[in-house]
Amino acid sequence: MFKNLYPETRALSSYEIDYDGKFLCGFRGIIFDIDNTLVGHGADADDRSVALMRRLTDMGYKICFLSNNKEPRVKRFCDGLEKGGADMSRIFSIYKAGKPLVKSYYAAMKMMGTKRKTTFFVGDQLFTDVWGANKAGISTVLVNRLYDREEIQIVLKRIPERFILKLYSAKRWKKAKEGALVLIGFMGSGKSTIGRKISESWGFKFLDTDELIEKEEKRTVSEIFAESGEPYFRSLETKAISGDFCELGGCVISCGGGLPMRAENREPLKKSGRVIYLKTSPETVMKRLKNDTTRPLLQRKDKEEAIKSLMKEREPVYCDLADITVITDGKSVEQVLEEIKLAL
Ligand code: S3P
Repeated sequence: MFKNLYPETRALSSYEIDYDGKFLCGFRGIIFDIDNTLVGHGADADDRSVALMRRLTDMGYKICFLSNNKEPRVKRFCDGLEKGGADMSRIFSIYKAGKPLVKSYYAAMKMMGTKRKTTFFVGDQLFTDVWGANKAGISTVLVNRLYDREEIQIVLKRIPERFILKLYSAKRWKKAKEGALVLIGFMGSGKSTIGRKISESWGFKFLDTDELIEKEEKRTVSEIFAESGEPYFRSLETKAISGDFCELGGCVISCGGGLPMRAENREPLKKSGRVIYLKTSPETVMKRLKNDTTRPLLQRKDKEEAIKSLMKEREPVYCDLADITVITDGKSVEQVLEEIKLAL
């Protein structure tokens, strides 16, 4: 009923989105709302927003701010970015945009030289930001507003918005429970820990592909690698996700880090439910697995190099396969769960 008001996904804030992954997936332009999305209402660009814009333009993105606010407000924000050293040749803005009217979204894409498929929108309001982006056919990320203090016309819109978001979450939750939650990511990204916590807190059944394989083979992953070689282990992974795997509703499945790398394994993962990528930096993985002896691929002197090069190879596959990406570095298990729940 409210489909045009539903965002494609949600994030805790504009500062928790996996922009690198979206770039890898082909996105090149980002349309941002400013007030309560990047800074508080009417506030100047701060260190955090300057740093984000610098990072995004360095990465290769073009940015367009789309604000219903007036020229002086938008200009002041952009001046702050310029002062902070942002590359203003890649940053554009439209004031009095009249969101949710679509014409300003089209104008933003024209300025950035991007298309619907290569552009996404980040904003904190349904009736302006998300509605307009949906009408324009652009992918949307709805973020939680940064601060509670808002202008009266926005406060009033938050009432029906809360109602619609409740419906949206209930629908998504029901769908998530019908299928499986498939956790992918590098070794040491926390798939088993998060999977177990999801199982405990949300009542999903927990499955782990490595455990299934070990049980079936009656030997550990290390033993399988040593005695039968990696190709044999990979064939066991494919076997583990074949058959009725796609019909596993109400399960959370932790997949071995290398499992999505076989092209034929991706379809069953996608089909079985929502694929959640737990993204973790090589530094964090190194810290967690410094003394690990159970991952055969990392039993080498140049562990750090091995992590970096394997991750580089796998990252595009993880990003492409994921419905949801959560950056896990420096976050508690509870925080990661909260982000998954919001994005479901
Ligand atoms: C592997 C990851 C491991 C395990 C095996 C190979 C990989 O699982 O399947 O050691 O290739 O990344 P975890 O990701 O659970 O550590």
